[in-house]
Amino acid sequence: MSKRVSLTQYLVEQQREHGHIPGQLRLLIEVVARACKRISISVNKGALGDVLGSAETENVQGEMQKKLDIIANEVLIEANEWGGHLAAMASEEMEGIYVVPNRFPQGEYMLLFDPLDGSSNIDVNVSIGTIFSVLKRDDSSRPVSEADFLQPGRQQAAAGYCVYGPQTTLVLTVGDGVAMFTLDREQGSWVLTQDGIQIPEDTQEFAANMSNLRHWAPPMRRYIDECLAGTEGARGKDFNMRWIASMVADVHRILTRGGVFIYPWDKREPQKAGKLRLMYEANPMGFLVEQAGGAATNGQQRILDIQPDTLHQRVSVMIGSKNEVDRLTRYHHEAAQSSQL
Ligand code: AHG
Ligand code: MN
Ligand code: MN
Repeated sequence: MSKRVSLTQYLVEQQREHGHIPGQLRLLIEVVARACKRISISVNKGALGDVLGSAETENVQGEMQKKLDIIANEVLIEANEWGGHLAAMASEEMEGIYVVPNRFPQGEYMLLFDPLDGSSNIDVNVSIGTIFSVLKRDDSSRPVSEADFLQPGRQQAAAGYCVYGPQTTLVLTVGDGVAMFTLDREQGSWVLTQDGIQIPEDTQEFAANMSNLRHWAPPMRRYIDECLAGTEGARGKDFNMRWIASMVADVHRILTRGGVFIYPWDKREPQKAGKLRLMYEANPMGFLVEQAGGAATNGQQRILDIQPDTLHQRVSVMIGSKNEVDRLTRYHHEAAQSSQL
């Protein structure tokens, strides 16, 4: 039987051999993984655990919260606040940052999360997940504030997600490639099931909510039209489409077999850059996908280079196989140039 490597072993080896993970960061990742295990137990109970349906409350984004959005948020906070590894947390489901209470020691890291991604899929028993991002404070001499969080994604110390699907899978980067762990429910442990994940540079599969196509900018429509034209069109090949409506599950497929995920700007709400959130969704996924040899852009620039202005900032997202993302960026640049002529 081949040797099983647990998440703890993987992290200790990263710490010892590669010097990638300071002790506090290792603890942080283990605590997040433990919280995901707890969330996964609630998800699995479904109707039996009274976790389905709406909580009848609204979050800061003006979205109705599901019971599981709130449960997952609470589990992550409760698990992380006492360990001494964090200064503060920020969540898609909370208006302001959550500073670690005085009764606990404060660490130098900050944790950001989308506690439950794909909320519209909870009640229909389709894959959902948790996405997280880790930043380090630049200056620990003054009290932690929202300004400490406003760092570009390239400064993330770690990022990852957990998919609650047919299997429960944790995918992680600490800036040294991407590793995947599968939850062994009998043992209650995370087992390394893939390391050094690489996304193929080319793909024939895209993921987009096509019902919104007519509201997108011309370069976006050009890209999709060319995909749909298949072998008879400019691309000279047929494309397949998938849309799970949980970014976490769509990105998981892309990390597994390639593809491109698109959630672009929409002219119905022109002042909004997009639907997805930079700090809780685009940055952690951008870090993971780049670490696996893919790319992530908003059409104008690399996602990880965007300087955030606010915690809940939205962004247009094109992420996945490198050559498709580069093509999308080129189409956006060409459109910008021709409108200047
Ligand atoms: P969340 O559940 O955290 O609000 O995120 C949902 C996001 C993303 O995961 C998904 O890709 C997208 O919204 C789905 O949007 P549509 O409803 O347009 O399909
Ligand atoms: Mn989400
Ligand atoms: Mn969410």
